[in-house]
Amino acid sequence: MDKQTYYISTPIYYPSANLHIGHTYCTVMADAMARFKRLQGYDVMFLTGSDEHGQKIQTLADAKGVTPQEYVDEIVAGIKDLWATMEISYDDFIRTTEPRHIKRVQEMFMRMYKAGDIYKGEYEGLYCTPCESFWTESQLVDGKCPDCGRPVTKAKEDAYFFKMSKYADDLLKLFRETPEFLEPETRRNEMIAFVEQGMEDLCISRSSFDWGIPVPIDEKHVIYVWLDALSNYITALGWPDEPEKFDKYWPCDCHLVGKEIVRFHSLIWPAMLMSAGVPLPKQVRGHGWLLLGGEKVSKSKAAKGVDVIDPVILIERYGIDALKYFLLREYTFGQDGIFTNEVMLRRMNFDLANDLGNLLSRTVSMIQKYCGGEVPEAATKDEIDEELINMAVSVADKVSARMDEFQFNLALEEIWTLIARANKYIDEKMPWALAKDESKKAELDTVMRNLAESLRIVSILIVPFMHTTSDRMREQLGISDKEAVWKDAYEFYMMDGAKVEKGEILFPRIDIDKELEALSEIGAKNAV
Ligand code: MSP
Repeated sequence: MDKQTYYISTPIYYPSANLHIGHTYCTVMADAMARFKRLQGYDVMFLTGSDEHGQKIQTLADAKGVTPQEYVDEIVAGIKDLWATMEISYDDFIRTTEPRHIKRVQEMFMRMYKAGDIYKGEYEGLYCTPCESFWTESQLVDGKCPDCGRPVTKAKEDAYFFKMSKYADDLLKLFRETPEFLEPETRRNEMIAFVEQGMEDLCISRSSFDWGIPVPIDEKHVIYVWLDALSNYITALGWPDEPEKFDKYWPCDCHLVGKEIVRFHSLIWPAMLMSAGVPLPKQVRGHGWLLLGGEKVSKSKAAKGVDVIDPVILIERYGIDALKYFLLREYTFGQDGIFTNEVMLRRMNFDLANDLGNLLSRTVSMIQKYCGGEVPEAATKDEIDEELINMAVSVADKVSARMDEFQFNLALEEIWTLIARANKYIDEKMPWALAKDESKKAELDTVMRNLAESLRIVSILIVPFMHTTSDRMREQLGISDKEAVWKDAYEFYMMDGAKVEKGEILFPRIDIDKELEALSEIGAKNAV
């Protein structure tokens, strides 16, 4: 039988400047989910990319004295490097300047046009250039762009319009009858209220600049950047000329997006698809923002602070896995979270260096010392052993349930409950005392075996979040010849004859005060 498929996407990022920790957050979540589904045996399509057209890019390129294409090429190369450094396991990276995308966006436009949903009119509105968004007076906050707080300017031009208003009832029906289409519920309620206020038609072409995809029926116009960008989710699948690939993965299981772009994904995108006669994605999920000193992390905000938001610097100092762990463990999906160096370092020290790192190094050392390095048989079992075993084999289901809700922090918490239980097991069993009594050898062996098996299970459960750490654990546990397989997290005795090997400590302890000082120096330097 063919494998079940799972398709997850991130937003396609604007290559206007280098990405920071806030962008990284979404991609790290999507990566963890993609790896989790692959581990569970799904055929996964994980898509990311870059959103390269629009006035803002044109303006930035002009200011730099290069062509827009040259401008985006350089930044996109940097984005790809960042994802390579972070070992992001995307299956495809779509650039909106690629021919495969351009021709299909034009096809999308034509389908909507042929459906009678596109007409020519005159657009007059308030435009926020950095956000590429037109706003109505009532949407402004203090007269400024509600998304970024920057000033808007009056703009008027001939333009093509999409009859969005026609789809208002269908959208309301979608939210009410298929609530899981938009999560979390707070965002859904916002969107319902938004549509109920009355939906206007959407201006979907621009003629004041030309860095975009030409409107196929009128080459003086370029297609509005959001219509262009949203289409990436199907153009990357080869819609409509590669039906085999498209039908395999579409409808998308989850479009993971930041909260400020939920509106585009849950209103404009489904309306476009309805118009073009394409089935809707299964879900749009909005996540919160990482905040720095109470404001959304961004390049300009970083200038004020001492927190380091360049993921490359953080990876150089602490490693990819520690950074990914922190992002996934610290924040609650859907809510905003505050980013500080200190919170990050504490997490890394307590959870990784202390709890996980110590458990592995103590276990491996003891197996070497007491059992000649070979994982022994477990010939005895008491209530405490039983409790540990039962817990160990039941974590996978709990992790799975949390992951299905995108609660990465709680999934990790479940795994760390087992790690904490195993650490407590050592204190309760006091193997160093058992080792002093010849008659307790069988019990000592059991303790060693149970610890090793618990760590083996942990090494499987952490694959979606920290696959390199998983590999390093499996090497030390003497099981690196076997692949980490999800179903093995439900089994206990699987390590007959494994030979442990002491390796480097997983996560070196961080001297938090010293490190905070070093980071604030870097932050201050970067702020200039
Ligand atoms: N190009 C559009 C998306 C088009 S998708 C069809 C765009 N690009 S973006 O580069 O500005 O933002 C991409 C994503 O990064 C958004 O989902 C946004 O929420 C996320 N983040 C940017 N800063 C962020 C934080 N400080 N915290 C969390 N995510 C944030 O929008």
